[in-house]
Amino acid sequence: QKDGYRYFMEKEIYEQSVVVGETLMGRIKENRVILDELCGFDFSRIDAIKICACGTSYHAALSASYMFERLSKIRCNVEIASEFRYKEPLLDPKTLFIVISQSGETADTLEALKMAKKSGMPTLAICNVDNSSIVRTADATILTRAGIEKGVASTKAFATQVVTLWLLSLFVGTAKNTLDEEILKSEIRALLHIPLVLKVNEAKHEKIRRLSKRYLHGHGFFFIGRDVFYPLALEGALKLKEISYLHAEGYPAGEMKHGPIALADSELFTIALMPKNLLYDKMKSNVEELGARDSTLLVISPEPFELADDFIKTQAHSHMMGEFFEMMLMTQLLALEISIRLGNDVDMPRNLAKSVTVE
Ligand code: F6R
Repeated sequence: QKDGYRYFMEKEIYEQSVVVGETLMGRIKENRVILDELCGFDFSRIDAIKICACGTSYHAALSASYMFERLSKIRCNVEIASEFRYKEPLLDPKTLFIVISQSGETADTLEALKMAKKSGMPTLAICNVDNSSIVRTADATILTRAGIEKGVASTKAFATQVVTLWLLSLFVGTAKNTLDEEILKSEIRALLHIPLVLKVNEAKHEKIRRLSKRYLHGHGFFFIGRDVFYPLALEGALKLKEISYLHAEGYPAGEMKHGPIALADSELFTIALMPKNLLYDKMKSNVEELGARDSTLLVISPEPFELADDFIKTQAHSHMMGEFFEMMLMTQLLALEISIRLGNDVDMPRNLAKSVTVE
């Protein structure tokens, strides 16, 4: 069933264009986001959003928090489910409680959801498995339609989660009347373009395959980015460590000088996510500082970067999320190729299970 791909993870990376198309299907009509699943919610009574999740789903939640504040103008706060449960959180029935889960069975996420529900908060699940425990518990569910994900390292589920949350942020902005019509139109245009962005370019994949051999040894990786590229950096690092067993950390680029840069030397690899946006110059100086301390630099950007040891050119997208999804693809392929070169079992990495039903 691998359809000619070497691993399920590779197949799932290539499927992302199609499954994201399916996630969008029927949910956009005449410049409006249609989410019939939410007809039971009264958004005039909701003034904040809290999202709980684990692992990759937590990274999707973090990227969504930028969209909810920017597009829906609603306060949004994100927590790791296993932390949320034990902190004696203050739960407000005017806050919409969202959980995100591929499997719908993650124990900590499920228990966090039960706590929120018990406190009288409206609850929503973003989930890939219909009739899972999380779906059965939440007041409403938006299914992500990624199809069955076999690779333990999540790829297509993450892409569909982010797209679903983007749709939701537009829906909430419309429901609360906080989103300008013109912005809504341009967001929808950008959203509909994402399946195209997610088509894997074979030449780029080949380039990543070739350059991956440089990144097999050393004492670690920093994935750095700003804005939504920070959660993407976290996700890129998680993907790499899961299947390559190499030490990788994701950081907001602006945090390097607050400690982590002490680790920089020629044995440290920096993967810099550098979209050509308002923060480009700030990113540039963060990356230059790492280069000046001899870190090997792999820059992923539409703009060539002089100091880079390796450079993966992305397109200059008109919308930041176009760059987000293209860079997501590059970091997934990089993790895949490094893991294959190291001879690891990409689909069944050691010590990991697809569904974490223990706390
Ligand atoms: C990473 C990965 C895990 C899951 C996490 C939550 O590739 O798959 O980090 O994201 O265990 O799982 P779900 O989304 O099923 O709740």
